[in-house]
Amino acid sequence: MIAAELEHETDFGGWRRLARGLLAEAIAPDAVDWKIQGAPSDLLSAATFQPSAAKPASPMRVSKRFIDLARRTICHTDPQRFARLYHILFRLQARTLHIDQVTDDDIRWLMSCDKAVRRDIHKTHAFVRFRETGTDPDGRETFAAWFEPTHRTLELSAPFFQRRFPNMDWIIVTPDRTACWDGRSLRFSEGGQRSDVPPDDAVEDQWRTYFRSIFNPARLKISAMTSEMPRKYWKNLPEADLIPELIATAPTRARSMQAQPLLAPNPLATHLDRQRAAQAAPAPTLETFAGIRSAISACQRCPLCKDASQSVSGEGPEDARLMIVGEQPGDQEDIAGRPLMGPAGQLLDTMLAEAGLDRSAAYVTNAVKHFKFTPRGKRRMHQRPNAGEIDTCRWWLDLERQQVQPDLIIALGASAARGVLGHSVRISDVRGKIQPVPGGASLLVTVHPAYLLRLPDADRALTERQHFAQDLRMARSFLDGAVKGTNCREGNGAAKVT
Ligand code: URA
Repeated sequence: MIAAELEHETDFGGWRRLARGLLAEAIAPDAVDWKIQGAPSDLLSAATFQPSAAKPASPMRVSKRFIDLARRTICHTDPQRFARLYHILFRLQARTLHIDQVTDDDIRWLMSCDKAVRRDIHKTHAFVRFRETGTDPDGRETFAAWFEPTHRTLELSAPFFQRRFPNMDWIIVTPDRTACWDGRSLRFSEGGQRSDVPPDDAVEDQWRTYFRSIFNPARLKISAMTSEMPRKYWKNLPEADLIPELIATAPTRARSMQAQPLLAPNPLATHLDRQRAAQAAPAPTLETFAGIRSAISACQRCPLCKDASQSVSGEGPEDARLMIVGEQPGDQEDIAGRPLMGPAGQLLDTMLAEAGLDRSAAYVTNAVKHFKFTPRGKRRMHQRPNAGEIDTCRWWLDLERQQVQPDLIIALGASAARGVLGHSVRISDVRGKIQPVPGGASLLVTVHPAYLLRLPDADRALTERQHFAQDLRMARSFLDGAVKGTNCREGNGAAKVT
């Protein structure tokens, strides 16, 4: 028997080097005892294998597919993995096995380890929750996370966080390994314990708010939810303590959601009443807010008025310093007749407040004033307005802008940006800049909060949410005068800072 010693549990480089050497000397798999340096072994007297420095006579060919599978399988917790991988490699080289032979027990084992490891990496990406721990001497924010993967996958999952959060210093502590990123290099060291990561109530509350806002009681499927978010991860997820209550109250909340439209006035009747009233009334003047609202309520400038329940005008102080432009009313706004009061609007309100901006001090409106949708069963599915519809509706947006004369307009999403600018822009091209626009205001383009609610990947959602929060903070700084732009009006205090 010969001992093949690896440096640590996920030492793929060491396994590869030793496996090559053992194969070059045609040492059979059952003659090798794989062990970790320093770990106790049953075979006290086995000699430790040292691969020969000389090149083997016939170079070995190993498919990239096997190398990739082996690299991941090394991170599995199966104690037999080093021996079994060498056994498979030995059979592949002897051509008594092919990597696609999925009915073979060895290949079945390899594929199931690979699947388990890939799933574990995916869950790590989704469920690592960073907590803020302060700033380092260079002023960079520092974060830490405690996580308990099922397998030893940190080396494989950590590069994702390096790409996602390159500008902050972070560590991820797991029982086996710790990953540390300092903006320059990603290093791994011994594992740690949960108490190494201090709690952070603020970030944990953000996760809870986010989870509550995306939890739809009418779509609750507990088996799908626990398959996507297995219970074993709950103990490290700040939002998990909400789950029992959200599940318990889901039926009641779903019933009250279903009952709501029945309590609301029949939208079609409201729509027809308004149309009749508008046709009978004299043409409204467009020089006052009341006149503009009344004209919008009778708008038939494009076919969207036919199916929507009513038009939805902007609302808010007529001298607001901040104007917020959404895309178009959604299902709930169409029934209520008010902009941005459904789920996206509620998220916007929360995030405005977090940035120190008061929604009630802003004028909130949409690029398009009627709800565009396609019916699906009893539901009305949102449809994005096209360029023609946005351009036609700009007539109203321009009138609202002339009345309000805001210092700053925040355009939520590409449709809103087109409504303000009159041409299309890519959000990524204009984001993060406040630019003057014709008509005497400045414009900040950012994403629509509905986009944040739609993101299925929790990490991506958090990153995007932080970026959105950053945009709102920039808007606040601009209104405070801390960020310079043109056309800053002084002193009417309409964009209240909370
Ligand atoms: N989305 C918007 O852009 N506006 C609304 O009023 C509602 C949802």
